[in-house]
Amino acid sequence: MDKIIINGGKKLRGTVRISGSKNSALPILFASLLTDETVIIKNVPSLADIDTTISFLNFIGKPAVKIGDTVKADKSGKYKHIAPYDLVRKMRASVLIMGPLLARLHKVSVSLPGGCAIGARPIDIHLDAFKKLGANIEVKEGFVHTSSKGLLGNTIKFRFPSVGATENTLLASVLAKGRTKILNAAKEPEIEDLANFLNAMGAKVSGAGTSTIVIDGVKKLHGATYKVIPDRIEAATYLIAAAITKGEIVLENANPNHIKAVIDKLKKSGMTIEIYGKTLTGEGAFVGANNYSPSTIKIKWTKPLKPQNIFTAVYPGYPTDVQAQWMALMSLTKGKSEIKETVFENRFMHAAELLRLGANVKVEGQSAFVTGVESLSGAPVMASDLRAGAALVLACLAAKGKSVISRVYHLDRGYESLEKKLKKLGANIKRQQT
Ligand code: EPZ
Repeated sequence: MDKIIINGGKKLRGTVRISGSKNSALPILFASLLTDETVIIKNVPSLADIDTTISFLNFIGKPAVKIGDTVKADKSGKYKHIAPYDLVRKMRASVLIMGPLLARLHKVSVSLPGGCAIGARPIDIHLDAFKKLGANIEVKEGFVHTSSKGLLGNTIKFRFPSVGATENTLLASVLAKGRTKILNAAKEPEIEDLANFLNAMGAKVSGAGTSTIVIDGVKKLHGATYKVIPDRIEAATYLIAAAITKGEIVLENANPNHIKAVIDKLKKSGMTIEIYGKTLTGEGAFVGANNYSPSTIKIKWTKPLKPQNIFTAVYPGYPTDVQAQWMALMSLTKGKSEIKETVFENRFMHAAELLRLGANVKVEGQSAFVTGVESLSGAPVMASDLRAGAALVLACLAAKGKSVISRVYHLDRGYESLEKKLKKLGANIKRQQT
């Protein structure tokens, strides 16, 4: 298992290019199963989860390859309808195989994804939606067996705006007979990206990005070429890297509108942020930034930061995927702050590791109370999940001395060329292959 070694204390400076969004690319790749024609997806990051998804498509019967940042999912014939445990256990997003296969084959059997480091993460909202579309569900011997005589559009109200359930329902309903309405749908930018891709394939989806999505089923979808949006979580992570190392970074190919909540907090804490791009009009948009064309974000540390409380919430609230990174920053920000996690029930695994670096964090239920310390010092630490790993990298970049981060395979699932990008920004970081 590889390790990352960081000698902290370097102020990051320079330009970093933000990769395509992992959490957009995954559902879009699964959506390629909705057509037998060729699909070309651009701006796909090179990540372990993307490789797992490509293997998955190949296993099911959609021949797919990735060359550079482009995935070509070719003409396909017959699909398999069983997703075995070996493929599903590697990645929770594997449950997104259900929607497209239910739509195409009217049946699918998927091994249950099980729990993960950030909580139990059930799939009841996905399954309830499939039932509403006319599917029968049976859970037997660790598998969810889903079948139907053909899906029928319906109105589905989610008890919680789950990102994955919204995506799976979209994937299932685009080929259903009649109109489907999703109420209390997730509004994350990745949902809008998936809907845009589905529409490029000939689907009729409107309202994505709002809490009501309307899908008018079509008989068939065709091939398409599509470019994935920039990764907002990667962008936010680099912004916080600039803040925690008292540096100055320029982010290229980012979309500031997708991380407004993080940018607002960074500004309030005292970071200077400028955005360059095309002019945009529209609610909530930054002046000078374009909602759809990627922009450049410049961030600079000029003075000691002030602590800021955050509570995570569904989009457009503060993202849960940037909660751990904020905790790392607050650990080195003089004063007290509260970090409240409302999306997942167990997403504070990084707190104990931050303590090993000298942070002062107390977890009480859904909240973590942080008292900023003067400095952190390098230590061996362990990544427990993707974003917890990112928080540790940030903390180690700012800590005095040497840190060794283990279980970096978590980071490889979600940050393209992490060491290369950080090295280019001046960090003293290397990977040790063991
Ligand atoms: C997506 O996960 C992302 N993953 C996560 O990113 C992200 O943290 C999450 O959305 C929230 O923004 C991908 O896009 C691949 P949810 P997802 O369904 O779809 C509960 C990262 O670090 N819930 O919105 O699994 C669930 O337990 C990853 O990149 C149910 O109770 O998130 C959780 O508490 C981690 N029943 C909450 O809802 C369900 O049927 C949010 O889950 C579904 C979800």
